[in-house]
Amino acid sequence: VDLITSLSEMRRWRNEQAETVGLVPTMGYLHEGHTSLIRQARSECSRVVVTLFVNPTQFGPSEDFATYPRDMARDRQLAADAGADLMFAPATEDVYPPGFATYVEVGPPASRWEGERRPGHFRGVATVVTKLFTMTRPNRAYFGEKDYQQLQVVRRLSADLNLGVDVVACPTVRESDGLALSSRNVYLTPEERPRAVGLYRGLQAAQAALSEGERDARRLERCIAEEIAARGLTLDYAAVVDPISLEPLDRVDRPARALVTARIGRVRLIDNAPLTPG
Ligand code: PAF
Repeated sequence: VDLITSLSEMRRWRNEQAETVGLVPTMGYLHEGHTSLIRQARSECSRVVVTLFVNPTQFGPSEDFATYPRDMARDRQLAADAGADLMFAPATEDVYPPGFATYVEVGPPASRWEGERRPGHFRGVATVVTKLFTMTRPNRAYFGEKDYQQLQVVRRLSADLNLGVDVVACPTVRESDGLALSSRNVYLTPEERPRAVGLYRGLQAAQAALSEGERDARRLERCIAEEIAARGLTLDYAAVVDPISLEPLDRVDRPARALVTARIGRVRLIDNAPLTPG
């Protein structure tokens, strides 16, 4: 896969492309979740750009920016194998030039959940995604449903700022036991790893209760909390919400989304699933 690290070269490459450009924005350390996005982009677009940028503005001061796993040579190979045409890995100074002072702030759906727990996180995500869109000017951009709130925030900003990018959601890729793939799963110890499935089990339990007729959102949230507690994880939140606005629901009489976040050791895990009354 070709590699571009300068913005002017990126602009030149984009201007030469007449056809549909698909963008897969990543922070690297690619796994099967990312490569599934690249493969989907490959099947729908004539040119596929993968961006690799560990974005400092979306990490909190006590988060893992400095130690976030990085391996560009491996990422480049994985991107090529999945069908990418180009990897764009901009320098921090190109993304955040000296004197940088312009941020993109999304209101709801960014305010609750991760927005509350990680102040500034969605401002950093929204800012860098806007910039990656304007730097690479894709027709479509591919995001995993794993970071479900991020997906809704990106949809909102793309529509609000008339960026003209079609935001495509791709299903979460899971390990065989159901754990959602995440670059941060490498932090789990062998003892923690099997217990991490508690989030997925909780989401499954909520859907099972819903299918059996439970409509009360708080009781569905308790189903999730019980599976988390049963494995000794510390629940941050379990929330049953409207799938677009992410506002909490009282009852689930139409399709909803369940969001869950829990801590295990020093790792914070996040997951979500659709809730479909049947
Ligand atoms: O989901 C991610 O990896 C990041 O939040 C993104 C979208 C690449 C922005 O830095």
